[in-house]
Amino acid sequence: MKNILITGGAGFIGSHVVRLFVNNYPNYHIFNLDALTYAGNLENLEDIKHKENYTFIKGNIVDSTFINSLFTEYQFDAVIHLAAESHVDRSINEPLAFVKTNVLGTINLLEAFKGTWELDFSDKRFYHISTDEVYGTLGATGLFNETTAYDPNSPYSASKASSDHFVRAYGETYGMPYVISNCSNNYGPNQFPEKLIPLFINNIIHSKPLPVYGDGNYTRDWLYVIDHANAIDLVFHKGKNKETYNIGGFNEWKNIDLVWLLCKKMDLKLERYNGTSKQLITFVKDRLGHDLRYAIDASKIKNELGWQPSVTFEEGLELTIDWYLQNKEWLNHVTSGEYQDYYEKQYT
Ligand code: NAD
Ligand code: DAU
Repeated sequence: MKNILITGGAGFIGSHVVRLFVNNYPNYHIFNLDALTYAGNLENLEDIKHKENYTFIKGNIVDSTFINSLFTEYQFDAVIHLAAESHVDRSINEPLAFVKTNVLGTINLLEAFKGTWELDFSDKRFYHISTDEVYGTLGATGLFNETTAYDPNSPYSASKASSDHFVRAYGETYGMPYVISNCSNNYGPNQFPEKLIPLFINNIIHSKPLPVYGDGNYTRDWLYVIDHANAIDLVFHKGKNKETYNIGGFNEWKNIDLVWLLCKKMDLKLERYNGTSKQLITFVKDRLGHDLRYAIDASKIKNELGWQPSVTFEEGLELTIDWYLQNKEWLNHVTSGEYQDYYEKQYT
């Protein structure tokens, strides 16, 4: 039995990764460490919470004393590190929170992992989950690949870039086995409704304005979250030591085109007159330092590890909309309390 630590497992992507590992690997004991910030939600893991090979631990990766004692107690064979502050708009308002969790928190985990295995790292692995935003922004053409220079523009992406560098540095300096993946925009069930797709689904349900930043001509490369979880599984088991893998959906959309598609699908699902949701579109003040375009060249993971997305964007979007419509209670829970204050500050 291997002890695997997954951080941030109560969040959006983390919960899908925890579920996949708990269900597919009975020879792993999965420890899910999560501080349960506004973005963490144990309702995401109701279906697996009683499994024998699963343990939830509430705790903060910024607390080094706690982290060291946890590693001493459980001697984790591997870490899959997803815990992070993840929303760009919040990073613009509160950069320090991002430095604390994303940079200091990552270093605390690296130190504890090094402290546990420094004398013999064999069969051990630290897997750091990162983002394509570390590469900065693209113009109208070109793609990010694994050798693109880091050029982060937001406090969020700067903190993620910094954490990537520390992971790499622990590999070079202390010989710690590691792998990093940098993924494009995820969407799917359980995403907190501060990000574009679930925010707009929730607003359409409640006939609230859809706040499109700037002129809406910004481009993102969208990937269904379960395809990201499958890629993480592959990279964790088959990825080469000290390598980086870019993960993307081969699926670029201008925000405004995506919002039009979403509106059309939501009108159909809600049996509203075609064009009802589109009328909610409101162009608002642009995000500061808004990156124009992200697009991933995912040919390395495709060619070397045989990964590719399993659903088209149309299919993934259908599954996502259906999930939110069938889980209105989940939406109601996460949009009460703190969410209302955040929404007020961000959009009024
Ligand atoms: P999320 O915000 O939904 O979840 C983050 C989780 O981390 C939450 O459960 C939260 O409680 C936990 N957490 C936050 N601070 C913590 C701390 N100090 N100690 C312990 N736990 C803490 O994020 P997500 O969208 O699921 O992203 C997960 C990871 O994937 C992040 O590292 C993010 O940078 C990366 N990523 C996200 C995307 C995306 O499109 N969402 C794309 C590429 C990479
Ligand atoms: O590229 C990967 C990254 O994708 C992840 O690392 C981040 O954790 C994740 O949040 C995401 O970042 P983005 O900033 O691209 O995602 P977001 O959903 O916030 O915004 C997507 C696009 O939609 C972006 O161009 C901004 C725009 N937008 C977003 C919101 C929330 C709007 O126009 N209006 C909005 O209200």
